[in-house]
Amino acid sequence: MKNITIAIDGHSSCGKSTMAKQLARELGYIYVDTGAMYRTVTLYALRQGFFDEASSLNEAALRADIEGGKVQVGFVLNPTTRLPEPSLNGEVVEAYIRGIDVSSRVSIIAALPFVRAALTLQQQKMGEEGGIVMDGRDIGTVVFPHAELKVFVTARAEVRAQRRYDELLAKGQPAAYDDILKNVRERDYLDSHRAVAPLKQADDALLLDNSDLTREEQSQWLLQKAREAMAE
Ligand code: DC
Repeated sequence: MKNITIAIDGHSSCGKSTMAKQLARELGYIYVDTGAMYRTVTLYALRQGFFDEASSLNEAALRADIEGGKVQVGFVLNPTTRLPEPSLNGEVVEAYIRGIDVSSRVSIIAALPFVRAALTLQQQKMGEEGGIVMDGRDIGTVVFPHAELKVFVTARAEVRAQRRYDELLAKGQPAAYDDILKNVRERDYLDSHRAVAPLKQADDALLLDNSDLTREEQSQWLLQKAREAMAE
């Protein structure tokens, strides 16, 4: 079996990360959550006070810091879960990047060409050797257009909002369902309509709508597709 590159793209909150993580574990592959990288840059901008009260961004300041090497985004292996967690200048930031403060601003950051250029390059380096499962929005279209397996995941917006609501609640970060649904819809729109690397299904990606699938059904399907691609 060869070491392949698996690109998992799709809408926000449809369980991409969970399924990609599980698949990587089953195959013994490296897992990279690229959304976490955009979230980490957003956290940096928030911490530096680069967003004003109306969420308008001081783009020049962020650009200067990125180009000056002041924003090092990486991954650190959690020794207990054996999963990579995002880091910002060496600090593990997983606990700070999933809340509504980051979620409601990350599309602004992800639309900036200089942010995308820096993160795309880093992602391509991480995947040079294959044996990787990477999830995001533009992995099959921009980062790895030649990936051996591409999956485009989606689910109905209400289903996704409910999942995110449950996830935040479980983490002790409750938020209003209506706000989350609004955020899911806004991000769908922004992700698919931005000028650089918009979210779209690659021509050769397999479509997976998991609105009515159990996690088990979904992971069986995915594992099967991965085995087929590895055997080719
Ligand atoms: O998957 P996520 O919800 O954690 O992603 C956070 C944001 O980052 C989302 O609004 C889209 C953006 N993103 C992107 O533009 N390109 C990627 N490869 C991954 C995420």
